[in-house]
Amino acid sequence: SEALRVAVAGLGTVGAETVRLLAKRREVIASHAGRPVDVVAVSARSRGKDRGLDLSGIDWADDPLSLATRDDVDVVCELIGGSDGVAKTLVETAMAAGKSVVTANKALLAHHGSDLARKAEAGGVTLAYEAAVAGGIPIIRALREGLVVNEVSRVYGILNGTCNYILTAMRESGRAFDDVLAEAQELGYAEADPTFDVDGIDAAHKLALLSALAFGHAVDFKAVHTEGIRSISALDIAYAEEFGYRIKLLGIAERTPEGIRQRVHPCMVAKAAPIAQVEGVFNAVMAEGDAVGTTLHYGRGAGAGPTASAVIGDVVDIASGRGAPVFGVPAERLSTSREAPWESMR
Ligand code: HSE
Repeated sequence: SEALRVAVAGLGTVGAETVRLLAKRREVIASHAGRPVDVVAVSARSRGKDRGLDLSGIDWADDPLSLATRDDVDVVCELIGGSDGVAKTLVETAMAAGKSVVTANKALLAHHGSDLARKAEAGGVTLAYEAAVAGGIPIIRALREGLVVNEVSRVYGILNGTCNYILTAMRESGRAFDDVLAEAQELGYAEADPTFDVDGIDAAHKLALLSALAFGHAVDFKAVHTEGIRSISALDIAYAEEFGYRIKLLGIAERTPEGIRQRVHPCMVAKAAPIAQVEGVFNAVMAEGDAVGTTLHYGRGAGAGPTASAVIGDVVDIASGRGAPVFGVPAERLSTSREAPWESMR
């Protein structure tokens, strides 16, 4: 049957790996999707840069926005990043033109998720974002599909690979914060602006999405209490260790009598707890549901391969016609009621 035609906007760590993997695994993807998946066009800031990619037969667009309205494109992968600007315009324009969108952009969805969900529904297209939360861990699918029957009481975990990498390295070698951050940047884990990682903002973006999915409320990034790891010293980590704890940056969303509470901050976690064993770039998400009990989802939370893996999973879903509501239920049913027990707290 006919190929699904994909455009990739942004050829950074994730975009380049997405193009590479789509070519390398072309056959297995076609057999899963029931049709071939072709990259027809790409766009990035610098055309001359050597990314080690074979772009022969693929159109180059200097303007990413041109990808959104091409007749020969069915799906746009938005891998540019940023909560506003080009990424937002690209996603909106593509959806308005009847194209489905796959994005890794948690900042965009944390700020505009409910609005974009409504636009996707109005256009009858899919907006998929598995890659936006916890890298390669299929946690969006788990919450939206596998655990759907549950009343979730809490979802929490390690949501930023860069911070976990830094905290792990500081503990293992007593190295200084700045040193380790530079390393995480070189490895392609950190955000373009690493402030988003170390100040907990990236984890807060992801938590806002998990909370909306788990509890069925509108995405409410402003409601997330956010603290990062800048103030944590190697000495803090060593003392915690001595008392039997690891320091982890956790994102926690939970149902309380007053409403849904969302917060990101460093926590002391008993060394024996599963989440304390999560080290380096790995992420882990625990979800507690009334039917299932506690589940633990573990995997690499950042980097080229894990994130591209999630992007392509979404592309294959779209190719096989398996779109789902963005936040599990139609956007108009995402609760925004002031009185509701699932209202998020400010
Ligand atoms: N900078 C993010 C992290 C990338 O370190 O987790 C994945 O979203």
